[in-house]
Amino acid sequence: MTPRKVRVFSGIQPSGMLQLGNYLGAIQQWVAGQGEKINFICIVDLHTITVPQEPAVLRRQTRELAALLIACGIDPQQTTLFVQSHVRAHAECCWLLNCVTPLGWLERMTQYKTKAARQESVLTGLLDYPVLQAADILLYDTDEVPVGEDQKQHIELTRDIAQRFNGIYGETFVIPRPVIRESGARIMGLNDPTAKMSKSDPTRGHAIRLTDSPDEIRWAFKRAVTDAGREIRFSDDPARAGVNNLLQIYELLSGLSRPAIEAHFEGKGYGALKSEVAEIVIEALRPIREGFERLMQEPAELDRILAIGADQARAVAEPKLVQVKERMGFVLPT
Ligand code: AMP
Ligand code: TRP
Repeated sequence: MTPRKVRVFSGIQPSGMLQLGNYLGAIQQWVAGQGEKINFICIVDLHTITVPQEPAVLRRQTRELAALLIACGIDPQQTTLFVQSHVRAHAECCWLLNCVTPLGWLERMTQYKTKAARQESVLTGLLDYPVLQAADILLYDTDEVPVGEDQKQHIELTRDIAQRFNGIYGETFVIPRPVIRESGARIMGLNDPTAKMSKSDPTRGHAIRLTDSPDEIRWAFKRAVTDAGREIRFSDDPARAGVNNLLQIYELLSGLSRPAIEAHFEGKGYGALKSEVAEIVIEALRPIREGFERLMQEPAELDRILAIGADQARAVAEPKLVQVKERMGFVLPT
């Protein structure tokens, strides 16, 4: 018997223009893993509405995200790229999993606590967010979930939900594992190396957006916060987080080893480091920006790709959902 091919699933929200942390922490890994495994990448619009959204903005950002992912190298021939709301099984499976998930498990989630603290009125969907994420992952018999560090707790919760379901109803779900890179798991803000780079922080100079112009990128790196030292070395020292962050970005985009990078910057100052990192980022993002602009001119082509992705996803998710309902004792329609 030939061994079962490894299945990879990850998701990303259409909640604003992607930034360098999304690319280095998540998308670059998804692109590198195409080919030998079975890959699913899902644009999780149902997750995005857990905080209030403008309908026109959500619609635009969903198409932009699809174009950007393809421009980053997600190849629809090798990866099933689809929009979550196109596959009804996700919302339905979420409901079924809600009914095996204790409330206390959700109230403990740190992402929920941080996001809830920022809202005046917290929506039920925000608390339920990780159960929908579990449904996404479990419907595809996923083995690996490549994500940034911040998603680790949600993947652990997914494992707990799957184990609990299997315990009650018998072996149904594959138990997935998170795959988190060592370098790039947490790209920090350029203006504040103690805070994760985030697409929701609008401060100029905080994040590098994947569609930023070369001048904007140079501006942001020139102002990147470093420290009063002068040594250019990788380090875990929180006081040197700014320099370490710049070096990690350089490492991930150059593909060079850490000793080679330290040797390269030996004797150079922080100014040189910032401008070399800016240039390597500009070169890496140039084809992405150009590809994105090209695809945005072809909305029909984009919709066609997403329709094919949704068909492929349904072919996997729907039979799985039937199996889940059967295990739970639902009378299936004939
Ligand atoms: P989000 O922007 O929250 O939808 O995240 C999409 C993916 O990018 C997830 O896998 C995150 O863990 C990852 N990610 C987001 N921001 C960063 C960051 N600053 N560093 C590394 N990974 C990140
Ligand atoms: N919560 C994830 C994030 O904000 C997005 C997501 C939704 C996801 N469903 C997923 C990630 C399934 C991995 C697998 O980044």
